[in-house]
Amino acid sequence: MDDIYIDLAKKYGTPLYAYNLNMIKTQIENFLKYFKSDLFDTEISYASKALSIKEIIKVVKSYNLSLDVVSLGECYTAIEAGFNPKNIYFHGNNKTIEEIDYLLKNNVGCVVVDSLDDLANIDMEAKKLKKGINVLVRLNLGIDAHTHKYINTSYIDSKFGIIYKCDEFYSIMDLLYKSKNLKFIGFHSHIGSQIFDLKAYESEIDKFIDVIKDYKEKLVINLGGGFGCRYTLEDSPAPIPVVMKNIITYTENKLKENDLEIAKLMIEPGRSIVCEAGSTIYTIGNIKKTPNRLYYFVDGGMADNIRPALYQAKYEAFIPGAEGKEEVTIAGKCCESGDILIDKVKLPLAKKGDLLVVRSTGAYGYSMASNYNKLLKPAVVFYDLENHTDKLVVERETLKHLLDGEK
Ligand code: LLP
Repeated sequence: MDDIYIDLAKKYGTPLYAYNLNMIKTQIENFLKYFKSDLFDTEISYASKALSIKEIIKVVKSYNLSLDVVSLGECYTAIEAGFNPKNIYFHGNNKTIEEIDYLLKNNVGCVVVDSLDDLANIDMEAKKLKKGINVLVRLNLGIDAHTHKYINTSYIDSKFGIIYKCDEFYSIMDLLYKSKNLKFIGFHSHIGSQIFDLKAYESEIDKFIDVIKDYKEKLVINLGGGFGCRYTLEDSPAPIPVVMKNIITYTENKLKENDLEIAKLMIEPGRSIVCEAGSTIYTIGNIKKTPNRLYYFVDGGMADNIRPALYQAKYEAFIPGAEGKEEVTIAGKCCESGDILIDKVKLPLAKKGDLLVVRSTGAYGYSMASNYNKLLKPAVVFYDLENHTDKLVVERETLKHLLDGEK
């Protein structure tokens, strides 16, 4: 198994984002198999912010998932990858007029509205362009999913969503019902990310049950994403089949108990589709001993993985083909003390030139990568262990890319 990392590093160089395509497919198949009900339709929308490149969009499309995008750039990437715009949900708390025009002109299927201002802009542009579009209204259901505060979206003053039955909510619904171009189809909420506690989704469903009691029409209910993943051995997320069965059964029971019906239940997983399938392969360069630490410096760092610095995210690493017990710190090459990828990890005594693989970097690694210190973004490779193939899906940046647009 470790050989694959050695082979890919030889072929494509490091640092390298390497995705196991078989794992991605298995995960999508798990979602599709267990997120199903006899009572209502179900739909899975891949949250492309986790990894927004044409190759993953094509994979998602081959399984007929729909797609969540939050910007012109993500939407453009999807359309360029051949994704049917009808199956795109366009999110965002501050959509620009340019974005709204783009999504309307390209016949994107649904827009998720975040405020009255947002809706007013969409209504105005839809009228101007004589376009119709479906609308989901994003609610802030006030659920405290125990996760890092930067990725918890449903606390009371969150910038996302609208509180049910507040004044602004009523104005939104008024405008929606009056609009000739916009069609209200239901509600959306996303309660946070990297959620382990299934009770958080149950609370979300409870809140939605209270909401839909107020509507005669059968609504679409979108629960958002956030399903937890394993970064280190300390993480033990419930497997996706268990999570999906729980959500479906809970929703079915609550609907029956309350004698209610919905048109469709949706989820928007991002991380859980790509996280564990992705690893970053680095080469160890210099090694340094300080009074209390042994540092392995790698040829990437916070520019290709900002998550440890931003969220204190924990990762595991290994050296292909070797096991060991030295406690080491993995630091990147950026000119920044916070550029520590892993604070403490047990590894063998390494030497310059050894490879080091950090696991579970597949979500929000490449998509949040930057050119800080003018580092080049790594290449991205998808490998298929069943068919013994690999494919370069994003080229490594070159120095020339760095000056693109500079005068
Ligand atoms: N739907 C909406 C409306 C979202 O805002 C998000 C994530 C998702 C779905 C997908 O959530 P997921 O299944 O990936 O957890 N950069 C952070 C994560 C930010 C998540 C933002 N929204 C990180 O690296 O942990």
